[in-house]
Amino acid sequence: MNDFNKITAYRSALEQLEQVIGPNGYQIDLIGKMSIVCAILKLHFPHWVFVGFYRHTKPSLLEIGPYQGNIIACGTISFDRGVCGAAAREKTAKIVADVRQFPGYILCDDLTRSEIVIPVMKNNKLIAVLDIDGAELTEFDQVDQVHLETIIKILSD
Ligand code: SME
Repeated sequence: MNDFNKITAYRSALEQLEQVIGPNGYQIDLIGKMSIVCAILKLHFPHWVFVGFYRHTKPSLLEIGPYQGNIIACGTISFDRGVCGAAAREKTAKIVADVRQFPGYILCDDLTRSEIVIPVMKNNKLIAVLDIDGAELTEFDQVDQVHLETIIKILSD
């Protein structure tokens, strides 16, 4: 992705998201907003394998929410499994440079090589995680984390 400036892409995605689902945007529920977040991110990052939300619907369990990507995602993930489970359990972002090295990694497709998962909090409670899969090793870093954390704040406002 040499000629691709991800900071520019994140800024443009954020600007669009503020217009569409910010305070003066669509008056829709959280799941609708999650759908729009996935759609706008995937428009800006078409090379991602998967971008989606797993929602915290039951104790220690995540359930698939809106997503984009040409894969059939796992339906549920318990807190003791996978990168998503670790991020949910510890309520911290996870950046995995090589998913094959991550103990308990949950394989949903053959393309994913790296992953980032960001917890989504509302009123100090975990409501979901945002999960993104990349086809390259070490695709995600602090730049992604910072911008994605800014983007998902729109969901907690
Ligand atoms: N790989 C994730 C599972 C979800 S899929 O990537 C869509 C994990 O290990 O938590």
